[in-house]
Amino acid sequence: MMAQKRILLVVGGGIAAYKALDLCRLIRRSGLAVRAVMTKAAGEFVTPLSLGSVTGDKVYGELFSLTDEAEMGHIELSRDADLVVVAPATANLLAKMANGLADDLATTLLLATDKKVLVAPAMNLRMWAHPATRRNVERLKADGVTVVGPTAGSMACGEFGVGRLAEPADILAAIEAMLQGVTALRLPEGAWAEASANGPRPLAGRHVVVTSGPTHEPIDPVRYIANRSSGKQGHAIAAAAAAAGARVTLVSGPVAIPDPFGVAVVRVESAREMQAAVERALPCDVFIGAAAVADWRVAEAAEGKLKKESGPRPPLALAENPDILAGVAGRSSGRPRLVIGFAAETSDVVPHAQAKLLRKGCDAIVANDVGLAGETPGGVFGQAANTVHLVTREGVESWPTMGKQQVADRLVARIAAMLG
Ligand code: CTP
Repeated sequence: MMAQKRILLVVGGGIAAYKALDLCRLIRRSGLAVRAVMTKAAGEFVTPLSLGSVTGDKVYGELFSLTDEAEMGHIELSRDADLVVVAPATANLLAKMANGLADDLATTLLLATDKKVLVAPAMNLRMWAHPATRRNVERLKADGVTVVGPTAGSMACGEFGVGRLAEPADILAAIEAMLQGVTALRLPEGAWAEASANGPRPLAGRHVVVTSGPTHEPIDPVRYIANRSSGKQGHAIAAAAAAAGARVTLVSGPVAIPDPFGVAVVRVESAREMQAAVERALPCDVFIGAAAVADWRVAEAAEGKLKKESGPRPPLALAENPDILAGVAGRSSGRPRLVIGFAAETSDVVPHAQAKLLRKGCDAIVANDVGLAGETPGGVFGQAANTVHLVTREGVESWPTMGKQQVADRLVARIAAMLG
C-alpha cells in the first residue's frame, strides 16, 4: 500500500484564516494527512485548538519552543511532509518568502524546506495589485513556488475585486495535481482570477459589456417602479471578466453594492437609459445581460409630484420597454460574437430558458431557479448563492448550487472556452 501523503499547512494571519479549517477537513477527507503551523497573526483569527481538532494533530507555532524543537524541529517539520501549502498567504508572508526572511517558525521552515510549495494568497485587492506584491509573486514563481488564486469577489473590507482566497476545493485540486507530479498546473475552474493576475489572461484583448442590477421606472419625480435585483450576480461577472483580462464596461442600474475593481461603470436608472448606455458601449466581443430590466415603464411619467388631494387616484398606464438583450442579439451589423442572457424562472426553468434563447436570438442563457430560494421574501435576489443552468443551442449544463462569484468565474471560464 502507498504511504499516506502528508501536507504541511502554514496558516497566515488574514481574515481568510478561518477557511483553513475547511481546507484541512477537505484534505483529510481526500485521504491525505495534514499538520498545521500557524503564524502569530493567524492566532488572532483561528485558535490552535480549532485547527488541531480538524488536523487531528498538534499545531505548531513557536520557533523557540523547547518542547516543540525537541519533538519536531523546524527542519523536521518540512522533512516529514510531501508538500508545503501556505493558505492563506498574506501579503506580508509572501514578501518574507520572496526575500528569504526567517523570523518565526512558519518563515523559517519555508526557507529550510526542499519540498514543493503551493501558496494560496488572500488579501485586500489593492494589496494584491500593489507592484511590491506583484514583484514578490513573480519572484516566488521564478523560485518554483506554485500559486493558486486569489479569485475575484466581494471582500471582508466591503470592496469588490481580486484578492479572495481560492475556494478550498480548488486549493485541494491544486494539491492533488502537485502530489501527482503535474508540473504545469492547469488551474481548476473558478480560479481564473489567479490565471489572469499571474499567467494567461483568457479574455485579454476582449471587450465585455455587462448589464447589472434593476432598473427604476419613474412614476413622478419622487416615485418609481423597481424590482428586487441586487446586482450581485452581474457585478460578480464584471469582476470575473476583468480578472480574466477583459476590458469591461458595466452598465448598472441603481444598486447598493460597490463598483467592481478595474471595471468602467456607467450608472443608469431606467431601461431606456440602460439601452442607450449599452449602445454607446458597443462594439464588444461579449454582451452579458444580467440586469433585471423592467418590462414596462409608466407611459407618461408625471413632471411634478402626484398629489393626493389633486384628484382621483391616477391610473398608471404602462408602455413596454425596449428589450435590450434582444436588440443587441438581433443587430445586423456589429453583433457581439457572444450574446448571453439571464432568465429568472420559477417553474419549467429549462424549457422556458430554451424558448427565451430562441426568442431573443442569444447564444446562451443562464437560467436561475428562483423558485428554489424559498424562505426569504424575494428568493434568490440579494442572496449570495445561485442555482443555474447554462442553456445553449448545443444543450444544457446544470450547475450545482454555488456562490454568485463562483457562478461568475465559471461563466467566464465557459465564455473563454466558447471564444476559443
Ligand atoms: N432583458 C433586457 N431588456 C428587457 C427585458 C429583459 O435586456 N427589457 C434581458 C435581461 O437582462 C435578461 C433577459 O432579458 O438577460 C431575460 O429577462 P426576462 O425578464 O426573464 O425575460 P422576459 O423577456 O421579460 O420574459 P418573461 O416573460 O419571463 O418575463
